Amino acid sequence: MRVGVLTGGGDCPGLNAVIRGIVRKGVQEYGYDFTGFRDGWRGPLEGDTVRLDIPAVRGILPRGGTILGSSRTNPLKVEGGTRRVLETLAAEGVDALIVIGGEDTLGVAAQLHAETGLKVVGVPKTIDNDLSATDYTFGFDTAVNIATEAIDRLHTTAESHMRVLVVEVMGRHAGWIALHSGLAGGANAILIPEHRFDLDQVCGWVESRFKIRYAPIVVVAEGAMPRDGDMVLKDGTLDSFGHVRLSGIGEWLAAQIEKRTGKEARTTVLGHVQRGGTPSAFDRWLATRFGLHAVDAVRDGDFGKMVALRATDIVRVPIGDATARIKTVEPALYAEAGVFFG
Ligand code: F6P
Repeated sequence: MRVGVLTGGGDCPGLNAVIRGIVRKGVQEYGYDFTGFRDGWRGPLEGDTVRLDIPAVRGILPRGGTILGSSRTNPLKVEGGTRRVLETLAAEGVDALIVIGGEDTLGVAAQLHAETGLKVVGVPKTIDNDLSATDYTFGFDTAVNIATEAIDRLHTTAESHMRVLVVEVMGRHAGWIALHSGLAGGANAILIPEHRFDLDQVCGWVESRFKIRYAPIVVVAEGAMPRDGDMVLKDGTLDSFGHVRLSGIGEWLAAQIEKRTGKEARTTVLGHVQRGGTPSAFDRWLATRFGLHAVDAVRDGDFGKMVALRATDIVRVPIGDATARIKTVEPALYAEAGVFFG
């Protein structure tokens, strides 16, 4: 049995831990051989492979990034893409493919499985934590820890200068990173895409914070939007899955706050720092278990499924359940945080 492995979409901490779990269990317990595909779906599309055996996965558990490389290549948008992917897999003697990715990468896996019978198993990955059907994706906990540490540090400098500090975090159209890091870091306002914000209210929170002689920290998700207006973007370019590149709301918000309150306001955009470096212990634990269970699904011939976390159990769900719609923050959960605003 030869199993292919690829990592697609935005990278995130824990990818290497999944790869290690897959290869260690697959080789040691089931006697499988592995082929790594480079840069997500670009690997099978262009026949670009990487050696993947036990020596190749030694020492990678704590390393960020992915030894396989990643990309946002969408083979379904390329002329003859499906045929080329299938030809590469046949030429490499790959019997089954483990696809580690988010909504887009797994969406391709689900479609290829449905249309061609390709034997795929999915592993959910994204710092955004926006995949349905799993309680958590790995990478999210690390991103939240990085953002929380940044907020902790920004509190002290904000107070020294009595400035407003706006922190823009990632998350695409879901506010999970903003909500978790904002609560953990004691932010005075948390603005998420699921709830359009009222600029007057945000300025009111800023002013009330200054009245008690503390400087406010405003955490804003990159996809957050003002009640009266559109998404603020620095750059409107699209990726091959048709997603617009987010970021820009932080700068815009600081300028608006400064204009309306007369208080100096600055922005920190955390950007890719949230995706880089070593995974947290939780993400190593989750990613390793996802890897072990993904190779078990291959052994059981349970294809078209994705491994998912439910409480502390790893279960298998149809990949389509995870990709049909994104998981967003419910209004009641967001409302809980409101007691700390202002
Ligand atoms: O999906 C993960 C993510 O980091 C999002 O939070 C962010 O909007 C996007 O990827 C950025 O993508 P890229 O690194 O391709 O600019």
